[in-house]
Amino acid sequence: MTHDYEDALEYSARWLDLIRMDRFPTEAEGKQIIDESKQNFAEHFNRGWLEYRKSVTEAGDWAAVEWTGSGAIFKDVLGREYLDCLGGYGMMDLGWCHPDVIETVKAQLTRSPMPSQELIDPLRGVLAKLLSTITPGELKYSWFAASGTESIEAAIKIAKLFTGRAAFIVAVKAFHGKTMGSLSMMGKSDYRAPMGPMYAGPVYHVPFGDAEAVERQLEICDKVGIPVAGVLFEPIQGEAGAIVPPDDFWPRIRAATKKYGALLIADEVQTGLGRTGKLWGVEHWNVIPDILSVAKSLGGGVMPVSAVCTTEEIFKPMMYPNPFMHTTTTGGGALACSAAIASIHVTLRERLWEQAAQKGDYLIPKLQEFASQYPQIYEKITGKGLLIGMHFKSPEIGYQVAAGLFKRGVLVAGTLTSAQTIRIEPPLIITKAQIDILLDRLEDTLKTIAVK
Ligand SMILES: Cc1ncc(COP(=O)(O)O)c(C=O)c1O
Repeated sequence: MTHDYEDALEYSARWLDLIRMDRFPTEAEGKQIIDESKQNFAEHFNRGWLEYRKSVTEAGDWAAVEWTGSGAIFKDVLGREYLDCLGGYGMMDLGWCHPDVIETVKAQLTRSPMPSQELIDPLRGVLAKLLSTITPGELKYSWFAASGTESIEAAIKIAKLFTGRAAFIVAVKAFHGKTMGSLSMMGKSDYRAPMGPMYAGPVYHVPFGDAEAVERQLEICDKVGIPVAGVLFEPIQGEAGAIVPPDDFWPRIRAATKKYGALLIADEVQTGLGRTGKLWGVEHWNVIPDILSVAKSLGGGVMPVSAVCTTEEIFKPMMYPNPFMHTTTTGGGALACSAAIASIHVTLRERLWEQAAQKGDYLIPKLQEFASQYPQIYEKITGKGLLIGMHFKSPEIGYQVAAGLFKRGVLVAGTLTSAQTIRIEPPLIITKAQIDILLDRLEDTLKTIAVK
């Protein structure tokens, strides 16, 4: 089959013009972009995805095609504004297009976006040093990639390499990503069951927050000679709906992992960098993990970048005898590192974790008031800081709330498979006035649902 590629050349040229355009699209251009985007998603990207998105809009037609944003507000291609209370599932702590991150990335982009891979590129080292300064305890070395799931894959390998063991203990309803290793540690059958055999070593799932179950599993594994390499949990479960464990959970599993020689791995992909009101989720309980994974907001909502951080002792087998034991060509590239350095700088300068704590302390009680006012609608409110779950009586009600809010210009989302729990996870820089707008529009939505 021969191709002259003329169509693709023309199509990409037209889109390059649109991408490089330094003005907002006209209404006609906007409508054209909407039609084309819907068509492209349906025919070439993922029709089911498009239809799922459609279902969360009141109009039944996903005509909102995003174009740009600033702070907690983004605009669609027709110039309509939305208040972002989803924050890219935790990737937008700094909001849309944070100027410091954009400026830094632009500067690095024109100098050198990617390293040679042979010489020493400075930014990788800078980011590793910064992470060693801001992570808890003696975590000192970092390995970089682009996504959260890659950072979990690396954590699994590091735990295996260091301990020489293969078993893991993880949580029911946990979410750690969808590559095969991370998927094996996930606690949701929707994603695991269709994929067949998983990680070959033993993986034990226990209820999240049940310290006794972890202690018992470690003891059983020890008794029967299946030594555990790692115990992996999110500090606060995100995708499960912002589930906060009891206060004794993290301190007890820290003690138990030490007792049995297993490594404690904190998946801070969603909770890290201030989301829950502390810089790291584990800091709510003063626990220092052996391995910590971070991603999402590490890139400041601008670049994909993730890291796994650990101690010198645990990282040693990643350095000797083979320093290329676990690598990825593009991970930790200069652009990604520049974004992460800027993102960490802004997070520290603005003390974003304190902002998350204060704003959560304002927002959560108000949501709890709604929950007691509308017991026929709400099950409960969970979460800490700005990682908040609104749990409803049924998925239909959750769907109505998400759709009602979207109709009123506020973006929220359910968990990946159900609308019964709606997460509220805005950028940490959201203003108090914007939180009040969310509350007003939510109240308005609840009133409409209550009379149905
Ligand atoms: C706690 C946690 N770990 C890992 C991941 C996977 O990250 P990514 O989607 O970047 O692969 C997620 C994503 O939502 C997450 O919430």
